Amino acid sequence: MSRSDRQSPGPSTRAVHGGEREGRPRVSDALTTPIVQTATFWFRDTQELIDYQEGRYGSFEYGRYGNPTTRALEEKLAQLEGGEECLVSASGMNSITTLLLALVPQDGHIVTTHDCYRRTRQFAATVLPKMGVRTTVIDPSDLPGLESALADGASLFFSESPTNPYLRVVDIPAVAERCRASAARVVIDSTFATPINQRALELGADIVLHSGTKYVAGHNDVLCGVLVGSGELIAPIRALHGILGGIVDPHAAYLCLRGCKTLALRVERANANAERVARFLEDHPRVERVHYPGLPSHPDHAVAAGQMSGFGGVVSFEIRGDLQRTSKFVDALRLPYIAPSLGGTESLVEQPTVISYWDQSPEERARIGIRDNLVRFSCGVEDPDDIVADLAQALERS
Ligand SMILES: Cc1ncc(COP(=O)(O)O)c(C=O)c1O
Repeated sequence: MSRSDRQSPGPSTRAVHGGEREGRPRVSDALTTPIVQTATFWFRDTQELIDYQEGRYGSFEYGRYGNPTTRALEEKLAQLEGGEECLVSASGMNSITTLLLALVPQDGHIVTTHDCYRRTRQFAATVLPKMGVRTTVIDPSDLPGLESALADGASLFFSESPTNPYLRVVDIPAVAERCRASAARVVIDSTFATPINQRALELGADIVLHSGTKYVAGHNDVLCGVLVGSGELIAPIRALHGILGGIVDPHAAYLCLRGCKTLALRVERANANAERVARFLEDHPRVERVHYPGLPSHPDHAVAAGQMSGFGGVVSFEIRGDLQRTSKFVDALRLPYIAPSLGGTESLVEQPTVISYWDQSPEERARIGIRDNLVRFSCGVEDPDDIVADLAQALERS
C-alpha cells in the first residue's frame, strides 16, 4: 500500500499490512518486519552522509531521530488513522507532553475537558503554568464554553473522546467547526475509541493521539504513544521529540507492530463484550448506574452513535454502596486482574478511588467527580459468558 491509496483498503487489512512491505529492508527475506536493534547507523563515506543530510539518501542517522522498525509502526498507524504522518514515542504521556510543549506558545491558552486521565490533567495544572500557559477546563459537551475560551484567545482544544473514566463523548465535528473558525487546533486522545471505532481526523481533528499501551499494542506488555496528523503539524513535534528523547525502543515497536495486526479482531470482541456487560449491569439491582456510550441512557449516546462505529471495550459503573462494599465486589471477581490500564487481551478492573486517586482527599475526588463506588472494567477478549457469569457471582457475594 502506498501513501496515495491508503484510504482504499479496509481497516483490518491496513492493520495487518500497513507499513510492513514498501520501503522497509527485506532482511533474509523474513516475512515479518525485523527488529533493527541498533542505537546508531553508519555511513560508507562522507559523500553518503552528505547525501543523507540533503535528503538524497533515505536512511537513518541515530536512534533518537528514527529507526526502521519504529518507522514501519508509524507508517502502519498513519494508514490506520488515515493521516499523513505519525510519530510514535515511549508512552502516551510522552506523546501528550511533547505535543503540548511543541504546539502551545509561551503565555498561551488551551481548552481541555473535565473527565480526563489524571496525569494529563496534572501536566496542564502544574507544568504548563511554568510557561505561562493557562487552561480552561470545560464539560465535554459545553460548546458555548469552548466558544468563549476561543474568543479569549485559546489556540488548542485537547480532549479524550471517549473520556476516562466516565466515557463522555466529544462532538468532534462541532468542536472542529468552532476551532477552525478561530484557527485553533483540535487534538483528540482517541485511546478509548481506537482507530477501528473512531476516525478522529475524518471527523475534523487536526491530530489524533493514542496511549498505544492500550488497544494498539493490546497485550498489556508494552508502553507506547502515538500521534497522527498532517506532515506540517507533526514536524515540529518530531523535532522537539528528537531533543526530549522519549523514543520507543525498537523491540517495543515490534511488539506494537505485531499487536496491531489483530487490532480489528480484538476491538470487535472487546466492543461486543462491553455491550453485553453494560446491558447486564444496567439491569442488575445491585448496580446504581452504568456509564457506557453504547447505552441509550448515556448522556452522549446520540453523539457517539453518530461518530463511532463501535462503543469500545470499557464500561464504568457504580455499585449500590460505599467504598468498602465496592472493594468487596472488586475482590470477589475471579476473572479480571485488579490493575491500572485497559485495552489488552486480559480483562482488567479498577476502583479509581483506590488505584488512581488514593493520594487525593475525598473533597478533591468529589471536586473532580470521582465517586467511591465507581468501578472501571476493561473487557478483554475472553468469552462473554464467562465475563458476565463472573460479574454476576461477584455482585451476589458483595
Ligand atoms: C486516555 C489516556 N490517555 C493517555 C494515557 C497515558 O498513556 P501511557 O500510560 O501510555 O503513558 C492514558 C493512560 O492510562 C489514558 O487512559
